[in-house]
Amino acid sequence: GLARAAERDAAAEAARDEAPDLAALRRAAAACRNCALWQPATQTVFGEGPAPAPLMLVGEAPGDREDLSGRPFVGPAGQLLDRALAEAGLDRDVLYLTSAVKHFHYERSGKMRLHRKPRAAHVQACRPWLQGELDAVKPRVVVCLGGTAAQAVLGEAVQTLSARGALRTLDNGARLVITVHPAWVLRQPAGEAQESAMRMLVDDLRLARSALGTPLG
Ligand code: URA
Repeated sequence: GLARAAERDAAAEAARDEAPDLAALRRAAAACRNCALWQPATQTVFGEGPAPAPLMLVGEAPGDREDLSGRPFVGPAGQLLDRALAEAGLDRDVLYLTSAVKHFHYERSGKMRLHRKPRAAHVQACRPWLQGELDAVKPRVVVCLGGTAAQAVLGEAVQTLSARGALRTLDNGARLVITVHPAWVLRQPAGEAQESAMRMLVDDLRLARSALGTPLG
């Protein structure tokens, strides 16, 4: 009857309002087989950091070191990101850090595992995890590190170099900054090209910091 229907509606509403449980999400993601990347990978590399958090950074996909350790941004790109964060006056401990795709995509070459860029289908398959993280972390500011992250968050292809350096507003009111990926900075020739790429990353992180309003870290 009507009373039972009202009860059901209330229960459904309560479930919707429940803070999404990041720990449960992480456990579920550990068993993810939404695409083929899980099989050759060591493990799912889920995001890391407090939830809620005012600032969330989204990368592309774990690399070799992340695959082995199970933690995001612990390899060379992560070390460069840490330097850029420090220069921008941000502390890694106060932000939530994740990647659009949560399994390492690679090609074997003898004993080497060569990094491969995730395909659109991988990004799509991983979308529910990223959305769950966004729902749980509720960031006021999101930083997309590179085009794959921007595509995952915005749902449309983005030219990183023309889109970077600007503050956007997402449908939910959060601010968005698109910037270059730290691995791209590392791939620039040493010298002026790399310094200029690093400056882009630091400037954009400073922009994200200013969008937070209150000082952080
Ligand atoms: N690049 C990413 O996008 N994520 C990582 O975790 C490491 C490198």
